[in-house]
Amino acid sequence: MSENEVRERGQDGSKGSPGAKGRDPQFEAYLEKEAMGRRMSQVKHRILVLSGKGGVGKSTVACYMAVSLARTGKRVGLLDVDIHGPSIPKMLGLEGRSIDAVDNAMLPISFGDNLKVMSMGFLLTHQEDAVIWRGPLKMSAIKQFLKDVEWGPLDYLIIDSPPGTGDEPLSVCQLIPARQEDSVFLDGAVVVTTPQELALLDVKKSITFCRKLQMPVLGVIENMSGFVCPKCGEVTEIFKSGGGERMAAEMGVPFMGRIPIDPRIVEAGDVGESFQQAYGNSPTAAAFNKAVQPILDMEKETPAAEKKA
Ligand SMILES: Nc1ncnc2c1ncn2[C@@H]1O[C@H](COP(=O)(O)OP(=O)(O)OP(=O)(O)O)[C@@H](O)[C@H]1O
Ligand SMILES: [Mg+2]
Repeated sequence: MSENEVRERGQDGSKGSPGAKGRDPQFEAYLEKEAMGRRMSQVKHRILVLSGKGGVGKSTVACYMAVSLARTGKRVGLLDVDIHGPSIPKMLGLEGRSIDAVDNAMLPISFGDNLKVMSMGFLLTHQEDAVIWRGPLKMSAIKQFLKDVEWGPLDYLIIDSPPGTGDEPLSVCQLIPARQEDSVFLDGAVVVTTPQELALLDVKKSITFCRKLQMPVLGVIENMSGFVCPKCGEVTEIFKSGGGERMAAEMGVPFMGRIPIDPRIVEAGDVGESFQQAYGNSPTAAAFNKAVQPILDMEKETPAAEKKA
């Protein structure tokens, strides 16, 4: 739709006489896209965290990558688009917090100085509320999260998605395409896996999903790779590790690092602290800090690591 056409339709979006009723869906879509573009243009880099498999630690990785970035002084937003099982509020001890709205915008919840968080979990009245939504409704909720959350200026927006390549990650990719010729685009995806064969197979599907949508894969993170002894801090390889790195090489995408199994990860959320606040000197905290290095390097050098497939 041309700008002239928009002017012609006037403030209420109606074509022709001022009294014309109803708004043209095409015009509505145009306005929404503009509003989302304006909101997202305040964010320098937009990154989607995904995995073909459930329970591999996407939310943990998204959450603590966001914390690691924020601890370097970057302004970070963490958006949880897992509509059915939002877990970010619990991980950061923010359960039960509710969202304020100002001028038709939702205000995210702050965690420390540099991290802002938005999740469906903040909008559910009871933690155990079940959300039964089909694709189009999920799409419109995600659209609202991208359009109506007042993040303010951010260096990074990290988007945590539910398992698989279903409605939620697809909605994000449709709403913010990965085409770098657009003014607002998704910089790329971080794909999370565990060292096991089955997870690796599912994760290959996520990489194929990214390629179909022409979204760069920033890298693969192998989570639950080795075990950190909570007593002495030593890392033991209890399952085989290294599968994520091999798979990344096989698929021709960068490898961002390994995060060990650390029982203290589960504890940190229970006391409302980030893992890095509680165990800043641990090998696990160091692993998160190392994993975000390629993301910090994006500041120096855009476009992203993998060019469009
Ligand atoms: N490196 C780790 N060490 C110990 N526990 C971990 C680690 N990574 C994740 N966990 C734990 O494993 C469980 C699943 O993690 P998480 O919720 O991050 O997975 P997910 O992939 O986001 O799951 P879903 O597919 O349901 O969204 C959580 O209880 C989390 O605390
Ligand atoms: Mg999750």
